Amino acid sequence: MRKFVIGGNWKMQIVKVDEAVSVAKEIATALEEIDMNGVDVFVAPSYHALFAVGQAIKGTKLKLAGQNMYFRDQGAFTGEISADSLLDCGCEYVLLGHSERRRIFGEDNAYINQKVKKALEKGLKPVLCIGETAKEKADGQTEAVNQKQLEESLADVSPEQMKNIVIAYEPVWAINNKFLNPDTEIKTATPNEADSIHKFIRKWLIDTFGNEIGNTIPIQYGGSMKDSNCEGLLSIKDIDGGLIGGASLSAAKFKPIIEAATKLYQ
Ligand code: PGA
Repeated sequence: MRKFVIGGNWKMQIVKVDEAVSVAKEIATALEEIDMNGVDVFVAPSYHALFAVGQAIKGTKLKLAGQNMYFRDQGAFTGEISADSLLDCGCEYVLLGHSERRRIFGEDNAYINQKVKKALEKGLKPVLCIGETAKEKADGQTEAVNQKQLEESLADVSPEQMKNIVIAYEPVWAINNKFLNPDTEIKTATPNEADSIHKFIRKWLIDTFGNEIGNTIPIQYGGSMKDSNCEGLLSIKDIDGGLIGGASLSAAKFKPIIEAATKLYQ
């Protein structure tokens, strides 16, 4: 039985510690009323708020994630954060290879692969983000791009280690980000589009890591998921949760998505 994972990716949207703590507390309080039923929920605040949010949600059902991580343990690496620092703040998950990291900050698959391996070695669960751009989609490259990202970002990761990985499929054209999509209209994937690529990813996971492991790896959908479209997406067989940006920034917007996931989880 695979888990559902619902993640709130706060990006650089909440810039004050107090605000991050208060939103996290509201979400944790909302979770108290929900039977989680095999669903993990995390939020990923900016680094500066990680420790305070970690303290505030200790002992609640809400989990903590880093938005990124460097692959070295410690040292003279200005502006970076280590796996041990994320663990020290109470993180269980870490986002790796988010499209904003890939497309705005130039991270490539080989670099992301080093981070995935370090996170696993340290006991953090990587949420490996993949996804094609609008142009790649228009060129008929959707499957090829996602397969390459999977192959190269997961190089040298064993089937056993895959038990601790979550894949987040986020078509870049669906991410609510004008910097990523300057010339295209941002649209959520239709359930049919999402179904087809999630099936493709599932097949790749099964072919690469075997039937048993391949079937237990959660594949999140990400890109403009919200209250109004989450049920259609989360009821698809190979969609096992969501990575949510804008609609995770308040308990009022995030709770309905979490409720839908707990209801649909079976
Ligand atoms: P969005 O972001 O839900 O605001 O589109 C999703 C993401 O980038 O993880």
